[in-house]
Amino acid sequence: MVKTHPMWNTFPTIQALLLECLELIIEKTSIDNDDIEKTVINMIDSQGKLLRPAYFFLFSRLGNATKETHNQIIAAAASTEALHLATLIHDDIIDEASMRRGSETVQSKHGKDVAVYTGDLLISVYFDLLADATDSVDIIKLNTQSMKRVLLGEINQMTNAYNTAITYEDYLKSIKGKTAQLFELSCYEGAYFGQCSPDILEKSRSIGQNIGIAFQMLDDILDYTQTPEILSKPVLNDVKQGIYTLPLILGMEADESFLPLLKKGEDLSDSDLTELVSLLHDNDCINRARAIAKTYSDQALATIESLPHHPEKEILHALTKTLLTREC
Ligand code: IPE
Ligand code: IPE
Ligand code: MG
Ligand code: MG
Repeated sequence: MVKTHPMWNTFPTIQALLLECLELIIEKTSIDNDDIEKTVINMIDSQGKLLRPAYFFLFSRLGNATKETHNQIIAAAASTEALHLATLIHDDIIDEASMRRGSETVQSKHGKDVAVYTGDLLISVYFDLLADATDSVDIIKLNTQSMKRVLLGEINQMTNAYNTAITYEDYLKSIKGKTAQLFELSCYEGAYFGQCSPDILEKSRSIGQNIGIAFQMLDDILDYTQTPEILSKPVLNDVKQGIYTLPLILGMEADESFLPLLKKGEDLSDSDLTELVSLLHDNDCINRARAIAKTYSDQALATIESLPHHPEKEILHALTKTLLTREC
């Protein structure tokens, strides 16, 4: 029996829809290979937050879709989580991460071959679900474009690895692609499949983009401020991989003392990392990064407030507010 993350216990309607998505992903990933099949089931059981399909549903419920479209709505929402899962598995290979959602990552447990193939399988499931959801060429095109933008965001991040001259604009370009794109797609598709008004459809994109940007900025802040136990994934990993995120970009602009540390590249020791974190605090970089993230979450919240009155709008607002002030 699949379960959702406990954060959905207080929203039973959304929770029931999320469970349908998870069951469908499991059904679609059934293949004749125990390792890969079990890997997907373990990931589904590991209780990710399911944010992308949840935003999809919160938007779809603002529209006028009839019950007849239920199966298409579930399939389209499930497709966003399938793509997300694929990107997580591939991201952990690239980041050489050992832990994800509190468990060993796929590549660390089964090696990179199984991890690459499991990610690939989930990408094929993503398109399979999408084909079940729609015959609109425009929606298929939107998805191929979005997937490309996610990839271009990752490539931009790779190009800037270990670049101590990286700018805020370079960083924004990476996170708009690698993270915000999928939030934007999920919100927009929710509005589209839910048959929302043109006004909601248009606003769904900017809400999704601003949520995604703030969400990644917060993830990047938590990488410096939290423990692996609380995050259920490694911390201080970004700088070791040469990924210089918002707090560090602010730090490098303000204080030259970061440079000798960063020159060490992959060879940063634990004491170098402690020094780097205390330099970040000395320069108030964590608070300044939080303030920047807040401008994006405030923009998302203001646009949500401008949506027409609806019970789901209140959930959308509450979820976004908690999510973008989270500590884990
Ligand atoms: C993790 O996303 C990757 C980022 C974009 C930071 P989530 O934090 O939504 O991951 P799960 O699905 O809840 O594990
Ligand atoms: C998000 O970036 C990666 C994806 C969009 C898949 P991170 O590399 O920061 O994500 P975590 O911290 O590993 O979850
Ligand atoms: Mg990562
Ligand atoms: Mg991260």
